[in-house]
Amino acid sequence: MPDKDKVFIFDTTMRDGEQSPGASMSVEEKIQISRVFDEMGIDIIEAGFPISSPGDFEAVSAISKSVKNSIPCGLARATKKDIDACHESLKFAKRFRIHTFISTSPVHMKHKLNMNNEQVLGAIKESVTYARKFTDDVEWSCEDGTRTDLDFMYKTIELAINCGAKTINIPDTVGYSIPEEFAKTIRSIKNNVPNIDKAILSAHCHNDLGLAVANALSGLSAGVRQIECTINGIGERAGNAALEEIVMAIKTREDLLPYETGIKTELISKASKIVSNATGFPVQFNKAIVGKNAFAHESGIHQDGMLKNRETYEIMTPESVGVKKTSLVMGKHSGRHAFKDKLNDLGYSDVTDDVVQAAFGKFKILADKKKHIYDEDIVALVDDSLIIDNKINAINLKSLKVFAGTGEPQRAEMTLDVFGDIKKTSQTGDGPVDAIFKCIKDLYSHDVKLSLYQVHAVTEGTDAQATVSVKIEENDRTTVGQSADTDTLVASANAYLNALNKMLIKREKKSLYKDIEKQKIRGGV
Ligand code: KIV
Ligand code: ZN
Repeated sequence: MPDKDKVFIFDTTMRDGEQSPGASMSVEEKIQISRVFDEMGIDIIEAGFPISSPGDFEAVSAISKSVKNSIPCGLARATKKDIDACHESLKFAKRFRIHTFISTSPVHMKHKLNMNNEQVLGAIKESVTYARKFTDDVEWSCEDGTRTDLDFMYKTIELAINCGAKTINIPDTVGYSIPEEFAKTIRSIKNNVPNIDKAILSAHCHNDLGLAVANALSGLSAGVRQIECTINGIGERAGNAALEEIVMAIKTREDLLPYETGIKTELISKASKIVSNATGFPVQFNKAIVGKNAFAHESGIHQDGMLKNRETYEIMTPESVGVKKTSLVMGKHSGRHAFKDKLNDLGYSDVTDDVVQAAFGKFKILADKKKHIYDEDIVALVDDSLIIDNKINAINLKSLKVFAGTGEPQRAEMTLDVFGDIKKTSQTGDGPVDAIFKCIKDLYSHDVKLSLYQVHAVTEGTDAQATVSVKIEENDRTTVGQSADTDTLVASANAYLNALNKMLIKREKKSLYKDIEKQKIRGGV
């Protein structure tokens, strides 16, 4: 069989994905995500839009220092200061890409840019030429490409390639195209741009009509060799083409899509979880590839077929995307060694001894409370321990009692360790969670907006652990906190504190670190 054509996977979870309202990720979270992406074999990681904020700049720099195989990339408008910011943040990587763009559609040029064709052509020439001073890996995008006049688009692409762009990206910015039309656009570009063989064509499709993946795959058949996508399909408005769907469609339908992506698909599930945790965006149960039900067979007829032969109802195996069969794991007598083996099996081979120790301690407590412990429980425990290991917790929950039920208003009694001071309070609220959050506000006065509170049962059954996600906002800063516990109210308190601790770190990194050092000296934390 001839070698399959390589398709480059360009991930934009941390740039376009982060543009989803409320999906912001911290620098630390982005670094963790980029490690998984790097290991997974993603070719290009668009790590951010460096000029847009100090946080984006810091994340792109950190990622450009840490990635080993993937090429880090930053986004820039067609201006020198944007391109300079890209270069400054990416320069630590041995290879990096600058991705510069300008709108080319009549509606964008008139209302957004207030520029005519000649001015846009001038800006392309200047920006691509300038970006090439820093790297030979320059990507150029014609924003709102699918609503651009084709004859003008050919001119812009030809010019960008002449100025040194090596990748030409065609965005369906507003998710307007349909598969046949998108493929036609790609074919027309191939047939009408004289120097197109000097660049790789790329598809960047948004999902406003639910067609992002279909459009991208259609583009692939017509000649694109790079697809821009995001984990879990997150992104502006209805999102971007979902990486996991693109990659698994190519893998599963190699008869019709004879391409190679080089993605280690067994890491897809891990990537999906880490992005969902960082953004606080849950994955819908029936989401293709990564949804909780994507490999669940409920009806008797399907289950019967599966028992006879998996191929009756399964076009790809759960293992191929890193979903392990739900299995009963160790009981309360299992030792640390068996626990560590289990973590290895679940893909947590690189966690520190401190995290293993913390997760093992929680496992023992859980095993006393809960009859059956499943892989998902272990994952929740270790993720919870990772959160604590990676973040400096200035405020910790010491104890919580909640009085709930009919009649009396719900009341919470709480003790917190606030920078080493033990403080107590009791508050009533509209429900137990409200009472808990009021206690935290009373013990550590702060003013943030709660923009998300969400509970997920980790497994089935009334004794299941609950994972609680909390998102808070302060000015233009957003943080997401998470925690898992068999007691949903304890998980709620810890998730809020986790978000608050992250906010404190964002707010006053330096002075917070000083407080913690003092606290350590006093024997705290
Ligand atoms: O959707 C879009 O047009 C973009 C560009 C910046 C590539 O995200
Ligand atoms: Zn986009």
